[in-house]
Amino acid sequence: AVPSLVDSFGRIARDLRISVTEKCSLRCTYCMPAEGLPLIPRSDLLTPSEIGRLVEIAVRDLGIREIRFTGGEPLVRKDLPEIVAQARAAAGRAGRPDLPLAMTTNGIGLDRKADELVRAGLTRVNVSLDTVHREAFAALTRRDRLPDVMAGIRAAREAGLGGGAPVKVNAVLMAATLDGAPDLLAWCLAEGVRLRFIEEMPLDADEAWRREEMVDAATLLERLGRRFTLTPVGRDDPASPAEEWEVDGGPERVGIIASVTRSFCAACDRTRLTAEGTVRSCLFSDDETDLRGPLRAGADDVAIAELWRGGMWRKWAGHGIDAEGFRPPARSMGAIGG
Ligand code: GTP
Ligand code: 5AD
Ligand code: SF4
Repeated sequence: AVPSLVDSFGRIARDLRISVTEKCSLRCTYCMPAEGLPLIPRSDLLTPSEIGRLVEIAVRDLGIREIRFTGGEPLVRKDLPEIVAQARAAAGRAGRPDLPLAMTTNGIGLDRKADELVRAGLTRVNVSLDTVHREAFAALTRRDRLPDVMAGIRAAREAGLGGGAPVKVNAVLMAATLDGAPDLLAWCLAEGVRLRFIEEMPLDADEAWRREEMVDAATLLERLGRRFTLTPVGRDDPASPAEEWEVDGGPERVGIIASVTRSFCAACDRTRLTAEGTVRSCLFSDDETDLRGPLRAGADDVAIAELWRGGMWRKWAGHGIDAEGFRPPARSMGAIGG
């Protein structure tokens, strides 16, 4: 058998994203309800050793070549260093000791945890930051914690968590922060981190997203163009969601992930595990395949790999946001893990 996760459209998943918790230290309006998500009973969460076992299968038997931890907010989980260490050990057992192990985080607490995570085997982080204006940040995230995020970004850079490249910063595009976008870019350029703007997708818990209100890549480019000279350079690799522009003649760059207006679903190479141990083939598909149950019932590696393949084979063609009759998925972003 071909050792990879293929879907019925012929796409191959090589990038595994593992959500480790639904909890978060912020409440970004595009992702979480104000009160947070319903708590997952502790016994329903994958343990560090279960995550290790699934990583070993994914890397050895299913062709996964990069892993990213997401949430909620992964740093909220106390045993995160143990999870990273188990994943690193599992990659070694699977014959890939150098497997890239990344994390997408809001950065809060990263200043205290960066070195420990590097020692556990983490290689890279992307930090989410939508604005450098304190009041706008507090309104958007419903928490006044901008300084903590900035400290986290600096700590990531100092710990080498760009993985040999600049640390990436993700900013979701919104009407409320559009005016501040040039300041955010200026701040990232000064800090030596790589900013990427992201079109907002209908994954908010309150289902308040409206296509006609969404700030798109074209609007952002016009706005940034008033202050910077931008030269398009395309994508680093075809499966990368970000298109890049050189800023003021380079070498600095800014990226845009135009998930809605220039969907990259046709080149999608992702598979996901939710914090409860189900395989999710797409952000937008609620068709999930449980692996935790079989794992705890003693299923062997071959059986687990087979279930995972089955779940991915059914992956949809794409998110269909602009298609007639589009319905957002039942889980909001915080419960899937970006
Ligand atoms: P790199 O490997 O550093 O490029 O990371 P990444 O871009 O794959 O991961 P990150 O977690 O930083 O995600 C950036 C943004 O891409 C997220 O905020 C999402 O908006 C978007 N994104 C992530 N996964 C998917 C996906 O499967 N489908 C779509 N449409 N968008 C996604
Ligand atoms: N649309 C696009 N990106 C989102 N993120 C969270 N919610 C959304 C959304 N509705 C981003 C976060 C983080 C990444 C995991 O996903 O800002 O950078
Ligand atoms: Fe938390 Fe990230 Fe969702 Fe914001 S986007 S609420 S930081 S999980």
